[in-house]
Amino acid sequence: MDADPDRPPVDLRRRALDLPERMDADDADLEMLERTYERFRYVNAILSGRGGVYRREIAPRARRGAIRVLDIGCGGGDIARYVARRLQRDGRRAEVVGADIDPRAVRWAADADHEGLVQWRCLSSSDLVAEGERFDVVLSNHVLHHLTASQLGGLLDDSERLTAPGGIAVHSDIARSVTAYALFGGLTLPLAGTLLKGSFIREDGMLSIRRSYTAAELTAAVPPGWRVQRRLPSRLMLVRAGHLV
Ligand SMILES: C[S@@+](CC[C@H](N)C(=O)[O-])C[C@H]1O[C@@H](n2cnc3c(N)ncnc32)[C@H](O)[C@@H]1O
Repeated sequence: MDADPDRPPVDLRRRALDLPERMDADDADLEMLERTYERFRYVNAILSGRGGVYRREIAPRARRGAIRVLDIGCGGGDIARYVARRLQRDGRRAEVVGADIDPRAVRWAADADHEGLVQWRCLSSSDLVAEGERFDVVLSNHVLHHLTASQLGGLLDDSERLTAPGGIAVHSDIARSVTAYALFGGLTLPLAGTLLKGSFIREDGMLSIRRSYTAAELTAAVPPGWRVQRRLPSRLMLVRAGHLV
């Protein structure tokens, strides 16, 4: 996979938590960061499984009445906008909240939401718990691999508290594997000089895969009540149903 004989081979046997992603740096180049937020929509349209989450979890709940959906760690906000647009197109009553701890992301997401479909909040899941918020669907995409073990525990604990009775939490992320690494590298290479140029998508994407969990690792890392589902292409969905009352 790694053709350069001078470079050591990439080790995908364990999570590379010591490798920081460039977009997470406080001093990341703002122009590149904003282009990354803008380009996320292409990556997410193909990889995030957002259509399946909408069909399986959001649409059936929205048919029963008005619902609230949270996208935690929303980044550029394209998934929250996608969900809000589909709910609107389906004629459902809904409130969609996109939240991120990074003010650069929230600012960009709010500016990109020309139709004003989503409520944008610059805060963490714990802040939302402190506010007493509840949602029928709590979702995230590509957030888990950013977190340390204790941050993951915190996010999952918050997700449980934020999930309304009968609701669901769904955290979607990459499944680390040699295949995922080779496929993402191969598919994005021809786009590196065009669509993805001037963004962190390719470089951070390769790092993201190295930082991600395998299904077995994620299963071992989560508390009881959470289920790990494998999805194509190279995806993990971490799911927990809210308790019915
Ligand atoms: C790779 S980005 C993913 C953005 C978006 N969900 C997407 O799929 O394009 C991860 C985002 O999670 C945010 N994040 C990390 N930890 C968070 C937390 N505890 N609460 C809210 N946002 C968080 C980061 O600021 C970053 O914008």
